[in-house]
Amino acid sequence: MDGSFVVKGNIIWSESLSSIKSMEDSFLVVEEGKVKGVFKTLPSQYSSLSIYDSGNGLVVPGLSDIHVHAPQFGFRGTNLDLELMSWLDTYTFPEESRLADEEYADKVYSLFVSTIAKSATTRLAAFATRHTDATLALMDKIEEAGLSGFVGKVNMDRNAPDSLREESADYSASETERWLKAVEERGYSNVKPILTPRFIPSCTDALMEKLSLLRDRYCLPVQSHLSENMGEVEFVKELSPSSAFYGDAYDRFGLFGGEGKNGCIMAHCVLSGEDEISLIKKNGVYVAHCPESNANLKSGIAPLRRYLDEGIKVGLGSDIAGGTTESIFDAMIDAVKMSKMYWRLVDDSKEPLSFKEAFFLGTKGGGSFFGKVGSFEEGYEADILVLSDSHIPYPRALSPLERLERFAYLHGDINGLEAKWVKGRRLF
Ligand code: GUN
Ligand code: FE
Repeated sequence: MDGSFVVKGNIIWSESLSSIKSMEDSFLVVEEGKVKGVFKTLPSQYSSLSIYDSGNGLVVPGLSDIHVHAPQFGFRGTNLDLELMSWLDTYTFPEESRLADEEYADKVYSLFVSTIAKSATTRLAAFATRHTDATLALMDKIEEAGLSGFVGKVNMDRNAPDSLREESADYSASETERWLKAVEERGYSNVKPILTPRFIPSCTDALMEKLSLLRDRYCLPVQSHLSENMGEVEFVKELSPSSAFYGDAYDRFGLFGGEGKNGCIMAHCVLSGEDEISLIKKNGVYVAHCPESNANLKSGIAPLRRYLDEGIKVGLGSDIAGGTTESIFDAMIDAVKMSKMYWRLVDDSKEPLSFKEAFFLGTKGGGSFFGKVGSFEEGYEADILVLSDSHIPYPRALSPLERLERFAYLHGDINGLEAKWVKGRRLF
């Protein structure tokens, strides 16, 4: 049966922030693309299924990158000397302007998608650019690669160079509708649209009003940026003096999560104040924590322990090209390191994250934005990774959990990704 199989190995998955399960030398059973369960001995009714035997491998859920800019792949790992607003003006907007050239966009998106396909990421929430046709090309490539997630055509009608800024709110909204209709026609099964106002500095009130209507008409989730960097937060105060706080500038247009609003991801939330945090919580907004980007752009350290204690939904983002690497294992480790600096430098009542907590954020924490994703509980979609750490020698026996932690810290995903399934379909 298609999408029905068994993976044998040392199986590790999170059920909650504080509960991680590890079963040595066990069987993960998948039926029609969904997890049936993990068993110490294979129940006889599954004995006819084909078995992928990983030997002594580690078997974990696929990782979710809930904030990434696909068009910025072309300059990742360079030009990280400025803070957000001048980084955008100097490097990012000129680079994104180049994606008006469909040939260049094709090159960038081919490299981006093949890199993600080879990585530990199975789900992503990605920004494209304002360019409608290139955005569709990106969606085609993600669908074709067998990856799954959301892609947004970016809306931006102010504070950007003429080469990138959309000429009016009307134009931006009508291109968005053209994009949404084309997406419907293409009938993708793995990739879906997400409404993507870039951030408040890029979007006029007139545009936000139109996007709000489109969100309702097409039942779309929303992704954007929030309280990332000091210069940005100050600029939003100037641009939107009647908003009580940054998040309120989205919420005024109903673009900040809430009941019946199809989900919302806000990237960063480094500088959110009390009222903003309350609304994030009340509206069920997902925080996309992007620790590497927050260090590179000198934004600061998000108060992750606070968010987790509040029960706010949190996942991890690579934020390429504010971040340099697509590795969500690296994002887990960066989240742990940044939380230790927060404890040391900012507030020693906020316990640093443990590796187990960071693993939850990279799997089920972010995965839950996509549905039943990121765990091996019954009914979860079969996003599976087989990890081999045989290239990392060690002199004594380690538990599977110790091996997983070491795999993450030592960048095991560069050489040790052995097999990957998304929704029960094998990619390699
Ligand atoms: N805020 C608005 N646009 C961007 C972007 O491209 N990257 C980051 N990190 N923050 C943003
Ligand atoms: Fe970003």
